[in-house]
Amino acid sequence: MKDRSKEDEVADISINNINKYFGDVHVIKDISLEIKSQSFTVLVGPSGCGKSTMLRMIAGLEDINSGTISIEGQVVNDLPPKQRNIAMVFQSYALYPHMTVFDNMAFGLKLEKRSKDEINERVQEAAKILQIEDYLKRKPKQLSGGQRQRVAIGRAITRKPKVFLFDEPLSNLDAALRVQMRVELAKLHDQLDATMIYVTHDQTEAMTLANDIVVLNEGEISQKGTPMQLYDKPDNLFVGSFIGSPKMNFVSAKVVSSKSNNTEVEMLNSKLIINRFSSNITIGDNVTLGIRPEHLLVNQDADASWESKVFVVEKLGSGTFLYLEKEGEPLVVETEGHSNIKVGDTIKVGFKADRCHLFDKSNEALK
Ligand SMILES: Nc1ncnc2c1ncn2[C@@H]1O[C@H](COP(=O)(O)OP(=O)(O)OP(=O)(O)O)[C@@H](O)[C@H]1O
Ligand SMILES: [Mg+2]
Repeated sequence: MKDRSKEDEVADISINNINKYFGDVHVIKDISLEIKSQSFTVLVGPSGCGKSTMLRMIAGLEDINSGTISIEGQVVNDLPPKQRNIAMVFQSYALYPHMTVFDNMAFGLKLEKRSKDEINERVQEAAKILQIEDYLKRKPKQLSGGQRQRVAIGRAITRKPKVFLFDEPLSNLDAALRVQMRVELAKLHDQLDATMIYVTHDQTEAMTLANDIVVLNEGEISQKGTPMQLYDKPDNLFVGSFIGSPKMNFVSAKVVSSKSNNTEVEMLNSKLIINRFSSNITIGDNVTLGIRPEHLLVNQDADASWESKVFVVEKLGSGTFLYLEKEGEPLVVETEGHSNIKVGDTIKVGFKADRCHLFDKSNEALK
């Protein structure tokens, strides 16, 4: 993060015990969250978990049933969206089709009755940052999807907001463009020193863009942390399966012994001592062992291993995914790109104990 020389352009957002109901449905359940100035915070979670509702409440587009939202120490619950100094970019670009790119970007400033010179200067500056200077005279339909999304972001930038809110802004773009725009957003965050809150259901976007990720599940925060904290130490099975691609493998296991930081489990007829512990665990408990595809070993020495038949082979160039099954449990293994393993081969799949996660009966992680 940069120094705070532009202190007047940044914002801390403090969310305290907010609740939101749509009719009888409790959509946001007592969420509290601190968002640091100039951070890039990503709200991630499956469809319907409340991401857009959270953003809309911060923007002032949705009322809150209880709790407070503060920006720079000021409670904004009753402040209309216009006065919050926030700009929002949506998945659908919502550009005015009959206006040029310039006029689309200038629209908000004209409403604010800014001078012609100031409008011109701000639009040119935003266009330069987003590299759309050559398109200012075009209409939106004469642009590609990525260029249109840049105009939508440009329209947000010209207003010089303290906070940018993005609601799945890249979902309508093709895969290559999504990656390109993702990099551009990261650069933009660096250039603008603004606070950005970004909503997505795409864990790759969350991992690559965020300083902090907030994983939401059914209106509650499942875990908050840096991308690598969430990857290395998921608090629960939901986060374990949501962060990482392909997703973490899960295998049923039984606790054999449990003492001083170690839990011994039996699974798939092997025993494994794992350096995780919880006082909630007792011998005989059913637990879930989690291991990521990239941490399983193929035909190598390991702490526990099995022979398994390969059902599907996916070659991605940089890596190969092998799909296996063991006692009805599916397993995905990632191995090297130039692997010779074919469908129908039997391989030895190895687990290293220090790569394994354990989750108790209530799906909470053993630490
Ligand atoms: N205006 C509304 N009236 C009633 N229910 C609503 C309304 N808006 C959202 N909901 C419900 O609130 C829940 C959260 O919706 P929200 O749009 O915040 O989800 P989301 O996480 O953004 O999902 P997605 O990834 O699909 O965009 C959903 O169950 C949704 O059906
Ligand atoms: Mg949404």
